[in-house]
Amino acid sequence: MAQFFDEPSRTFNEYLLVPGYSSAECIPDNVDLKTPLVKFKKGEAPALFINIPMVSAIMQSVSGEKMAIALAQEGGISFIYGSQSVEDEAEMVARVKAYKAGFVPSDTNLSPEDTMQDCLDIKQRTGHSTVAITSDGTANGQFLGIVTSRDYRVSRMDPATKVKAFMTPKDKVVSAPEGTTLKEANNIIWDNKLNTLPIINKDGTLAYFVFRKDYSVHKSNPLELLDSKKRYLVGAGINTRDYAERVPALIDAGTDVLCIDSSEGFTEWQRLTLGWIREHYGDRVKVGAGNVVDAEGFRFLAEAGADFVKVGIGGGSICITREQKGIGRGQATAVIEVARARDEYYKETGVYIPICSDGGIVYDHHITLALAMGADFVMLGRYFSRFDESPTRTVTINGNYMKEYWGEGSSRARNWQRYDMGGKKELSFEEGVDSYVPYAGSLHDNVTGTLSKIRSTMCNCGALSISDFQQNAKLTLVSATSITEGGAHDVILKDTNVQPIR
Ligand code: IMP
Repeated sequence: MAQFFDEPSRTFNEYLLVPGYSSAECIPDNVDLKTPLVKFKKGEAPALFINIPMVSAIMQSVSGEKMAIALAQEGGISFIYGSQSVEDEAEMVARVKAYKAGFVPSDTNLSPEDTMQDCLDIKQRTGHSTVAITSDGTANGQFLGIVTSRDYRVSRMDPATKVKAFMTPKDKVVSAPEGTTLKEANNIIWDNKLNTLPIINKDGTLAYFVFRKDYSVHKSNPLELLDSKKRYLVGAGINTRDYAERVPALIDAGTDVLCIDSSEGFTEWQRLTLGWIREHYGDRVKVGAGNVVDAEGFRFLAEAGADFVKVGIGGGSICITREQKGIGRGQATAVIEVARARDEYYKETGVYIPICSDGGIVYDHHITLALAMGADFVMLGRYFSRFDESPTRTVTINGNYMKEYWGEGSSRARNWQRYDMGGKKELSFEEGVDSYVPYAGSLHDNVTGTLSKIRSTMCNCGALSISDFQQNAKLTLVSATSITEGGAHDVILKDTNVQPIR
């Protein structure tokens, strides 16, 4: 007879944290959110930490190089999406590793033969108003000048006006040569009251831009996640099909950690992939696996050699797996059970394997709940897709700014390897949707707000570190009626159109 789990599986919304005693040192500034990313033996330090418990999802619509840089600046890590060619993924990783804080390769480029309309289109696409004008319209062509929104007037000029007619030519642009340090660049920006300083190679090609606004960003990122050579840490997604080709290319490109991206991790394919990596790289290469939703799945991946285990099936915001296939488990129940399995495994073997709660985070407090339930960190897709740094278009719908966000199992991404059960090389049916999410601004502003809520709740529970929180948090199930009580209720929310009558 089939096995039945006695309890219904629960979601984050069905739980609340019960406050614990807060001593005088329980203030948000004292909370340390550093958490292990990969497995370690009792008494030893993990080879990789992250400084905040947030990683970005292995998705085309989330984790490109801009996301990876912005998140590493905050202390988290991105996993560059694997549903692209091996070369393209390796190049993205290499660009993150080559990124010199403060020196930005230009992503908004045109040639002198392009038009004012092209300026407007590219500004809309990238969100940047400084356009580099190069001989061939690429980021590394001969530098010829700059266009900013001050150089053209939409209401007065023909959209077909060529860029060469209104750009600021290179002899009128203050620039600096290759080899200029960040400090020197910032002094030039300051002395000349500039917003942007182009850095030019010896052969006259454009190398980077240094932006005035980035100087303060760099200064205000005390948690940034750097390797021993002061480069940002970055992860990359792999699959269980082309690992013999993809893994070496990603390692050569400088990837710090890999993760098998699959909708279902309790499979022979994952065991073979992990086995191949161990055979060729031993423990030097760190690799996460998943996704699983129960103790059995965790144990399987732990024994197969995973460095961390990802938890969650069917809970993602763009996910229709439960509807299509009828598999999955409430995310809270899955995390609680896998966390228990991780603790038992640790007691038995002395090896701690971090777990990542993947998908289904709707409110910031869901992250806090996931940590309290035992997750070491969380993976988020929808959350990050709303920010400037996600690699998708910003559009307006009924006057509201939106970002595109689509699932890896949608026909737009066609990531068949993520769903492959050894069959044909295409998606047999969709497991994800193509959607929009409300645009929410910069990653920095949003992550800062989210972390301050997490720190504050941890203080209410008397915990100053994630491991302390995992061990001592008190959680309660809530009834359907107490969920209503949790929001504003029995009041009419203020509306700006209200006219006072007295
Ligand atoms: P979110 O944070 O709730 O948006 O969930 C993101 C997670 O959903 C990802 O990290 C994946 O594990 C999962 N996911 C991504 N694409 C799909 C899909 O097309 N179908 C089902 N799950 C997906």
